[in-house]
Amino acid sequence: MKFFVDTGDINDIRDLASTGLLDGVTTNPSLIAKSGKQFLPLIKEICDVVSGPVSAEVAATDYDTMIREGRKLAGIAENVCVKVPLTPAGLKVCKELSDEGTQVNVTLCFSAAQAILAAKAGATFISPFVGRLDDIGQDGMQLISDIVTIYGNYPEWNTEVLVASVRHPMHIVDAAMMGAHVVTCPPDVIKKLYSHPLTDKGLAAFVEDWKKTGQSIL
Ligand code: E4P
Repeated sequence: MKFFVDTGDINDIRDLASTGLLDGVTTNPSLIAKSGKQFLPLIKEICDVVSGPVSAEVAATDYDTMIREGRKLAGIAENVCVKVPLTPAGLKVCKELSDEGTQVNVTLCFSAAQAILAAKAGATFISPFVGRLDDIGQDGMQLISDIVTIYGNYPEWNTEVLVASVRHPMHIVDAAMMGAHVVTCPPDVIKKLYSHPLTDKGLAAFVEDWKKTGQSIL
């Protein structure tokens, strides 16, 4: 399973990249606005830190502008993955950019039917938003299970399931149980994966007992 971080904060990205566990980055217009940075130089900066896919989202919603924006974003670095919305125009752009050899992440997916279309359009990644489905009383993880099953029926489809809108560690664990290819998580959720009270308690006891031995390893 690949781990992407969902943020426009370069400090968080550098921090997580230094763990050696980070496989990529996703951004969206809201995260870019939150970062307060200029979009294009920020994407370049992120691509210099992380060698895996870095999703950069088009801003337009019409085909003509989206395809131009997509090509411009793709030109920033080899590892840019152009993010397009799951609309008829977005999927047309997806097909065209994919045929040109550009990685494409199709975002704002909320149904299995939409995920089928994205695979047909040659998407590199499909991003179903689990947290936002949970927020409206639907089962986000059931959608992941459905898409993983459907994609598994068609080995000729190369689209990876990228679990997005992740809110807590169990989303990640459940995604792994279902065989989703990628999760993209806010930095705080990734940090929560490390935590267990018994780890803290056990380590404190080992440290205390080691002191009693009066020994040193180095
Ligand atoms: C994915 O690529 C999106 O940027 C993101 O996961 C959306 O998450 P949110 O629902 O927490 O805004």
